[in-house]
Amino acid sequence: MKSLNLQLRFLAPLVATLVVAAYFALPLMDRLTLRWFARDLNSRGSLVTNALSDSIADALGDSRDARLQTLFDRAVQDERLFAIGLCSLDGTMLRRSGSFPRTLDCKQAQAAADLPEPRLRLAGGAVHVGVHTVDGETGPIAKLVLLHDLSFIDRRSQDTRRYLLLFIAALGLTIALITVVVAQLSWRGWMSGVRGLLRGEGLLRPMMASAEMAPLAAEIRARMRDLEDEYRRAQGPQTNWDAERLRALLRTQLQGDQVIVVSNREPYIHEATAGGVVVRRPASGLVTAVEPVMRACSGTWIAHGSGSADRTVVDRHDRVGVPPGRDEYLLRRIWLSPEEERGYYYGFANEGMWPLCHVAHVRPVFRESDWEHYRNVNQRFADAVVEEARSEDPVVLVQDYHFALVPAMIRARLPRATILTFWHIPWPNPESFGICPWRREILEGMLGSTILGFHTRFHCKNFIETVDRFLEARIEHEHSTISFKGDETLVESYPISIEWPSQAQQAAWPPAPECRRRVFERMGLPADTCLALGVDRFDYTKGILERLHAVERLLEKRPEWIGRFVFVQVAAPSRSLLEEYQTFQERIARLTQRINERFGHSNYRPVHLLAEHHEHDAVTELFRACDICVVTSLHDGMNLVCKEFVAARDDEQGALILSRFAGAAREMTEALIVNPYHVEETADALHRAATMPVAEQRERMASLRMTVRENNVFRWAGHMLTDAGRSRLRERIEARVQSHQAA
Ligand code: G6P
Repeated sequence: MKSLNLQLRFLAPLVATLVVAAYFALPLMDRLTLRWFARDLNSRGSLVTNALSDSIADALGDSRDARLQTLFDRAVQDERLFAIGLCSLDGTMLRRSGSFPRTLDCKQAQAAADLPEPRLRLAGGAVHVGVHTVDGETGPIAKLVLLHDLSFIDRRSQDTRRYLLLFIAALGLTIALITVVVAQLSWRGWMSGVRGLLRGEGLLRPMMASAEMAPLAAEIRARMRDLEDEYRRAQGPQTNWDAERLRALLRTQLQGDQVIVVSNREPYIHEATAGGVVVRRPASGLVTAVEPVMRACSGTWIAHGSGSADRTVVDRHDRVGVPPGRDEYLLRRIWLSPEEERGYYYGFANEGMWPLCHVAHVRPVFRESDWEHYRNVNQRFADAVVEEARSEDPVVLVQDYHFALVPAMIRARLPRATILTFWHIPWPNPESFGICPWRREILEGMLGSTILGFHTRFHCKNFIETVDRFLEARIEHEHSTISFKGDETLVESYPISIEWPSQAQQAAWPPAPECRRRVFERMGLPADTCLALGVDRFDYTKGILERLHAVERLLEKRPEWIGRFVFVQVAAPSRSLLEEYQTFQERIARLTQRINERFGHSNYRPVHLLAEHHEHDAVTELFRACDICVVTSLHDGMNLVCKEFVAARDDEQGALILSRFAGAAREMTEALIVNPYHVEETADALHRAATMPVAEQRERMASLRMTVRENNVFRWAGHMLTDAGRSRLRERIEARVQSHQAA
């Protein structure tokens, strides 16, 4: 039925064209035939006149001569010559055949013959009038009026008309047949080819099964991908990403489509305290990065409502406008029972996936009951996305290892959604990942994404190799895409970052020496102390133990630092319900105590452990006060602490020590890069940083600041959303092609 409609669409204009052609061509053809025949009749008339002129000249001498009458009557037996009349030069009718109309005199005949179309309509039909001069020996002697029957012309004209109509009809039919056949073959083939191409299946399968078209199909597809890759590369050096530019991108490339974020950790936590409800910002790299993006995009952020006063501030749809007082976007809270939280968050996500992906020598634990909770909670979040979606094709940003199954779950309910999943933690090699009992389910869930983002190419490569090992999927390494069950996922690296502080924010900071004075005073440090700082969640992946060993080794190796070197570790308690984390925190506390006992004296404590949550401003003050920032993660997707540190140092002072196992080490190459497992190396780096000349600090810091300012979080989001916009454009073209075909 669809293709019949389609062909009718093709044929209707064709038929209309032929009808219009016939409408104009037929009268034109009539006129032309008439003109040709008139010319024929005139020359025929001249012939007849010449043939009769001698007889006429003879007969004119004898008025009683009956020969002319007989001659005329014989001549009109010709079926086309209707009548003959003979006029004198002064216009008197001298003789006429019996068929010559009595009402027609010589003058009227002459007037009719002078018309451009010399025709007369008589009772019997139309006649052609020709008046020819009869020449005698001395010149013109009379005029011969010949009336030719035109009915034969009408007959011929009708015949021609019939033939022409038949010809046009036959032509139309032939063209229609050819059109139908060609349309059937090529339209069907091309359309499904285009669809296949857009789906990334290539033209080969649906469009042209013929083997000879395969190279062409592959070539076109590769070219399209190349163009996209080129475009993406061209985006590389673009600078000046900010909230406004991201907003503009949303308006143009995503046409203001709705953006929904899904994460476990919420950006604002309402806590009940003795002094009333307070709002806390969690220590989470994810939140640090995604929150400014969300402020720029508006939209809805769906997250676990984990604060003790969270329920008291939401509306009846469990939504609350945030940031508090500014209401720039909506936070939709999902409530989890203690069992759900235990199984999904603490259990599967943080005892299973977290150590699995970090490969930080903590054994992952997989429990069947945790997996059940993980699946159910993932389904609840996916359902919430469907509830919040105002259209069939929202842009959904799924965050992190808590929601590996959510992309496919959303895809099942909103097939046209653009799903961007960002994996904030590392992805291990296939061997390490292979120990997960539900590895297939996890991978299949993630491949529901339109785009799957990791911080580094290395993690993308690990993921693609893992899929290759455990799933039957088509992988295109060149373009970094995976096609699974008819859907294509682009696996791409998007290094995450921070929001670069605005001029106003920077202006509000107390000057760095002032921050230093306040911090030193609060901690009772002598002014010449070298202050090193670590700021982390209290997590075994952060290498806190290793850095304390390095501090201890520094004091051992270089006793001149005893009394002059202080290391402050801010450690925000995290996942403390888990035994692994409790044990870790206890170990750190014990080691701190040991180092302090070993090297401390009277007022001097080489290690200060601040195991409590610090708000952003307090952390900024510490960053601005210290001499060295130490980031020694054993494995980290990116690590934003090092970026926050350089952003806080507008005085271009301070040294950064950075683990080579943090994603950030790939772009922040001016830091002192260390292997945290190598205690000696880190101890040396501490010494080197503590003695780094001011000029070198400035040089390194200025370069680091430029990198982070350019590669800020809006650029991260901008690149992902640009890729999403391109993917949506492709989907829309495909939808349009399909609707054309359906119409
Ligand atoms: C890492 C994860 C985030 C998480 C954060 C804090 O950065 O990638 O998803 O939010 O740690 O951990 P928490 O368990 O407290 O949310």
